[in-house]
Amino acid sequence: MMALLDQWFTAAKNATATWSFNRRNRQAWQRGPYNEPRQDKAGFFADHPDLGAQEALLRGAYPRLEMCQTHSTLSRYRENLNLLAALDALGIDKLPHAPSQPCRVLEVGIKNWSTLDALAAWLAEKTNDSFAITGVELDPWRRYQDGHSRWDYATTFAHRVPEAHAPIAGDILDHTGMYDTVVCVLPFVFAEPHLSWGLPLKHFNPPRFFAALHRLVAPGGTLILFNQGDAEFEAQRQLLAPYGYTQRFSGSVPQPFYPYAHPRYGWWLSKPNQSCPKTAGLA
Ligand SMILES: C[S@@+](CC[C@H](N)C(=O)[O-])C[C@H]1O[C@@H](n2cnc3c(N)ncnc32)[C@H](O)[C@@H]1O
Repeated sequence: MMALLDQWFTAAKNATATWSFNRRNRQAWQRGPYNEPRQDKAGFFADHPDLGAQEALLRGAYPRLEMCQTHSTLSRYRENLNLLAALDALGIDKLPHAPSQPCRVLEVGIKNWSTLDALAAWLAEKTNDSFAITGVELDPWRRYQDGHSRWDYATTFAHRVPEAHAPIAGDILDHTGMYDTVVCVLPFVFAEPHLSWGLPLKHFNPPRFFAALHRLVAPGGTLILFNQGDAEFEAQRQLLAPYGYTQRFSGSVPQPFYPYAHPRYGWWLSKPNQSCPKTAGLA
């Protein structure tokens, strides 16, 4: 009986998600650039001196964070600090890429690209300021209460980062190209969060999603992932097993600046120069 009820709820949620997702895509709503309020951060760090000390360290290590510090709301700044703390914890020195070209970076599932600043600040140090970022989002037309869509936010944030291309609306399964580094923060590995996010189940297929990410990483390139919660982290391990990545880091990452419901985990993976599926699983 409970199983039947569960199935019914899932089918109902999927029908609603499909209807609204299709409607959003038809409308492709844009209100124009988002005018982000600049909020003072000093008061927050005066109240949390331990976080102030960690913020000072990150700002010292990643000077490009300054732009976010001055132009953002406090909550977006804290979000960016969290991502930067997580990226920093991976322990990467430099990202491999052809020395004569900028490091080609792809971020998958950018939502509204609110953490682009942290990614750019981190890449500036990991590539000697030579990188180009592409961002892809399946559902960029969701509208916020202020009338702006995710797309408006994403394009506004992208304009402030010279190395970022305009965001791309679409499914990563359809995206082509080759990137030295592919980053994905909180991919959906379970159906329930995907549905609760408002996405139709026809777009939920983790094996195909990670096959697409794998295809987009250049031989010898880097794949960086973050998951939330122990169960997602374990499921992620299974999903990566077919690809033979060298695991450089895998484990818990700090998130001190913004409280999240679940602990976060990071992956730093190197794709072999010769791709060899099924030969070497992850430790
Ligand atoms: C859990 S959210 C994480 C968003 C953002 N990275 C963050 O950390 O806040 C996952 C994002 O991936 C996007 N997504 C899911 N499947 C996708 C696909 N096949 N192609 C591109 N984006 C996808 C979703 O629309 C959503 O914005």
